[in-house]
Amino acid sequence: MIDIEIKHRNELSEKELNEINEIRIAEFSNLTKYEYGVLVNEFILWFLLEENDEIKSIGKLITIPLNFDDEYYEILGVQSIASKDKMRGFGKIIMNSILDYLTRTESLAIGFCEKSNSAFYKKSDWNIIESGESKFIFQFGVDDYGSISEDIGDLLWDGNEDHPVIKHLLSNSKDKITAFRKSW
Ligand SMILES: CC(C)(COP(=O)(O)OP(=O)(O)OC[C@H]1O[C@@H](n2cnc3c(N)ncnc32)[C@H](O)[C@@H]1OP(=O)(O)O)[C@@H](O)C(=O)NCCC(=O)NCCS
Repeated sequence: MIDIEIKHRNELSEKELNEINEIRIAEFSNLTKYEYGVLVNEFILWFLLEENDEIKSIGKLITIPLNFDDEYYEILGVQSIASKDKMRGFGKIIMNSILDYLTRTESLAIGFCEKSNSAFYKKSDWNIIESGESKFIFQFGVDDYGSISEDIGDLLWDGNEDHPVIKHLLSNSKDKITAFRKSW
């Protein structure tokens, strides 16, 4: 039996955290520490697909602070999309349940992906801006500026299309958006 659970980071059980981390270690080994970590009071909303009480596919939304044209915005970022059992439609169910959440809350989410994954997001009914990562500068700490220099990825987005961030991204403007996260 398949279930979708939507839980804030602080509501995860030890079993769920371990299963999430197992998937993260398998798929994104360099990012795993974050899940155990430091930012537990931050807004982190997990979308978990469970089959017979075992997590098979994951995804999450986090807050992304942004700045452009001297305006500060907070939108949502899509992160950690991964399936333990691939090609069974589980990733698409996760992406569709994130879409439902965006509709319900009238919010906007963006994410970055390798070009090889864009087809999956398109099939999951998300919008893609090709090489959209090039429109961003990432700032984590005061002296920690940078843009991604190689393998520029695509940008996926969905939700409120009237949001100034989306209007800017879809325009021909060359002004970059500063994201106060290194990457996600
Ligand atoms: C990308 C990923 C999350 C897809 O999850 P999944 O559960 O296998 O995907 P689904 O089975 O729901 O696939 C949905 C549709 O996308 C297609 N699809 C899945 N992965 C694809 C890919 N890499 N390229 C093209 N199409 C893909 C499927 O064929 C399916 O098409 P259909 O609706 O016509 O049948 C999974 O491959 C994964 O965990 N990858 C490693 C982690 C990763 O790279 N995450 C993305 C970070 S940006």
